[in-house]
Amino acid sequence: TTYNIGVCIYKFDDNFMTLYRQELESYFKSLETDTVKYNVTIVDGKGDMAEQTNQVDTFLAQGVDALIVNLVQSSSAATITEKCKSADVPVVYINREPAAEDMAAWDKICYVGADARQSGTYQGEIVRDLPNKGDANGDGVVSYVMIMGDPENVDAQYRTEFSIKALTDAGIQVEELFNQRGDWDQARGQELAATALSQFGDKIDVIFCNNDAMALGAAQAIEAAGRVVGENIYLLGVDALDECVEMVNAGTMTGTVLNDHVGQSHAAVDAAIKYINGELIGSAADAEGPVQPEHPHAVVPVAGRDDAEERLGALRLGQGAARFPHQGADAAVIALFRLGNGTVMGQHLEAIQPQRRLKGGKIPAEKPPEHRKIRHGKME
Ligand code: GAL
Repeated sequence: TTYNIGVCIYKFDDNFMTLYRQELESYFKSLETDTVKYNVTIVDGKGDMAEQTNQVDTFLAQGVDALIVNLVQSSSAATITEKCKSADVPVVYINREPAAEDMAAWDKICYVGADARQSGTYQGEIVRDLPNKGDANGDGVVSYVMIMGDPENVDAQYRTEFSIKALTDAGIQVEELFNQRGDWDQARGQELAATALSQFGDKIDVIFCNNDAMALGAAQAIEAAGRVVGENIYLLGVDALDECVEMVNAGTMTGTVLNDHVGQSHAAVDAAIKYINGELIGSAADAEGPVQPEHPHAVVPVAGRDDAEERLGALRLGQGAARFPHQGADAAVIALFRLGNGTVMGQHLEAIQPQRRLKGGKIPAEKPPEHRKIRHGKME
């Protein structure tokens, strides 16, 4: 059997989503057998919602078996879901989280993504833990520049809010000098950082960027302005692109936070395959089984194994052991844990097919959470 899968990416020209879509494609390939093939078509939305809507229409007209959609605009989820529901084609939304009420529209949709509150918090904690707590110029206040992604994405909102919250929670005095949208884009990051640097000069202690691409741009602007990261200014990103991890090692970037495109893309593919096999996911599947998350669409950030276990109890997944007869509750822990800091909407609990990840039926002892702080070349 050959299954046809349509994948809509909001924009190909995005470093993180490029890694993500390459991994989606190769993971589908790796799951093929002599009898099961996946014909995966990936299209570029070019940052244009009208274009993406047309692409969805085309996929539906071609009769795909499932869609994986990285929305250009999360607010268009309702429209896309409506079309897919009419055609009875299940959808896995990725990376840009639709609103909770939109997720309740149909039982054949789910969302896979990471919890941006955690990545924001980790950014802030990297600054908090610096010897001078981020106060590069020693004036008693951490004055920062915030370069945001697309403010329509909850990820951009949360990363912005929680990076600063980690500082204020630690009793650090902060001042926002500048806050603008850079739309996840390197060139925009450079422009905005250059503007902020010429406007505020030595007053700036920290430049927070919602992602690494914009931090790469900001790094160029910092150098051009004659400032030195680690000496008189700090620079933070999110994603842990290879290039940025090298910069953190070299000291030209203060820190970044791993955004696990591998775990996220695999979870998305696993979910699509479940749908193709006629299975429902998470809350939708609960009608037939004992797994009953209390808040099917709640976001459950998971900080580590202990936390996962605790939350597992909270979601009464212990009873769900029967669903994973060979691995029992441990498999569900892994599922939670793998999605990690990931947003485990009730729905993801089933999406992960943990059996494939278990070696000898055991949970790897030192499995790190998916968002990890990276500073001075160390992963935590
Ligand atoms: C974020 C990622 C950004 C950008 C964005 C697109 O998770 O950190 O680099 O790819 O998704 O929505």
